[in-house]
Amino acid sequence: MEYVLLAVLASILPSFAVARPSSYAVWAADSAIARGQGNGLDSTGKASVSYEHGELQWGLKQLYDTTGNQSYFNYILAGANNIVFDNGTVHGGYTLTDYSLDPVRTGPTFLYLYQMTGQSKWKTAADTFRKQLETHPRTAQGQYWHKLRYYNQGWLDGIYMGDIFYAQYTKDFQSSNTTAWADITSQFNLMFQNSIQATGDANNIGLLYHGYDYSHTAAWASADRGHSPEVWDRALGWYAMALVDALDIIPNSQPGHATLLNILQTIAPKIRDAADPSSGVWWLVMTRAGHSGNYFESSGSAMFVYALLKGVRLGYIPDTDGSIVKAARKAYEYMTSHWVVSNGDGSMGWTNTVEVGSLSGNGTYEYYISVPTDLNDLKGLAAFLLASIEYEKL
Ligand SMILES: *[C@@H]1O[C@H](CO)[C@@H](O)[C@H](O)[C@H]1NC(C)=O
Ligand SMILES: *[C@@H]1O[C@H](CO)[C@@H](O)[C@H](O)[C@H]1NC(C)=O
Ligand SMILES: *[C@@H]1O[C@H](CO)[C@@H](O)[C@H](O)[C@H]1NC(C)=O
Ligand SMILES: *[C@@H]1O[C@H](CO)[C@@H](O)[C@H](O)[C@H]1NC(C)=O
Repeated sequence: MEYVLLAVLASILPSFAVARPSSYAVWAADSAIARGQGNGLDSTGKASVSYEHGELQWGLKQLYDTTGNQSYFNYILAGANNIVFDNGTVHGGYTLTDYSLDPVRTGPTFLYLYQMTGQSKWKTAADTFRKQLETHPRTAQGQYWHKLRYYNQGWLDGIYMGDIFYAQYTKDFQSSNTTAWADITSQFNLMFQNSIQATGDANNIGLLYHGYDYSHTAAWASADRGHSPEVWDRALGWYAMALVDALDIIPNSQPGHATLLNILQTIAPKIRDAADPSSGVWWLVMTRAGHSGNYFESSGSAMFVYALLKGVRLGYIPDTDGSIVKAARKAYEYMTSHWVVSNGDGSMGWTNTVEVGSLSGNGTYEYYISVPTDLNDLKGLAAFLLASIEYEKL
């Protein structure tokens, strides 16, 4: 009897305990908002220009489009108002002459708000980032350095941080500037050419190393091409998301569109093939599947799901046998059953996102696996929002 009662309770209880929206996208967004994440302030309440806020705002903008819920738009606006004064000055720790690509990831939000409100402060703020790009240091080949202090280094992350903004700004204000379109293409292409694994490389899975040092002076730079030693899932995730988002912005008439398409079509099947066959998700260090200390990492995995599904939906990635969507679905289902946790108060939590992966150190496998994971890390949670938006469009 007792057993039967328990079984009945077990089948009923979760529906009381888990009051959650039917959409994971809505659940992820509402939970982030309820916690005050991504609102232009740091954990101490100080204004802070942060790329992960830009990433969340990119998701909220799409959720506003699909749900029409004004709260999402208001949250984006309030968050951006926290880092831009009424006169359009960007504050919150931003300094143009740091020449870092990271803050520029909030730029697409300014462009969006300018479109939506027509308020000149957003154009002024966007112009500041555009001005930074004009004088940003570059390698001899023309690749933006990731930051001024990372001498001659191109990182995959930087493409997501700088070039969505660069492309959207060009589309909005300089659509016939072929120099700018060619330069944007070149950022993607140089990153690809300099960091794609070569046939003879150890652990070759046909994907892109985290970064490269054009001057070959960094501790991690390979003797042959100056690339870093490992394929880190989140870096490749940023790059893959940047490809599909930029393809949506760059006009088909620009030659760069075909260049990006070609890169995306080269790496998409390799990303599919790198998924762990049993779980369907991806390893933190993709070059070391199954190695001791390696684990399935949630931010990179969510980014791949977003990029693959959006790429197929918009026709950028051919998927004649359906294997790309199948892989993305499988990964997504693993995420919702393993990385989404119900907090019992109506909100969800998100687990297993690695805090950071930087090429400021030695770039080794040991380094990547030594970094802790975080609960509710916005870089991963925002990626899950993006993945959910795409999954729910299937
Ligand atoms: C709109 O979004 C807000 C903010 O997350 C949420 O609290 C609210 O319930 C949503 N409204 C509707 C009608 O879904
Ligand atoms: C813009 O406004 C801020 C805050 O009010 C002020 O500190 C700054 O000097 C202003 N900048 C310009 C260029 O007017
Ligand atoms: C076109 O883009 C290039 C490269 O970003 C820039 O230097 C130039 O000022 C832009 N030209 C115009 C007319 O905006
Ligand atoms: C690289 O750095 C990690 C920690 O960040 C350390 O555990 C490892 O021993 C270092 N490896 C080398 C070769 O210096």
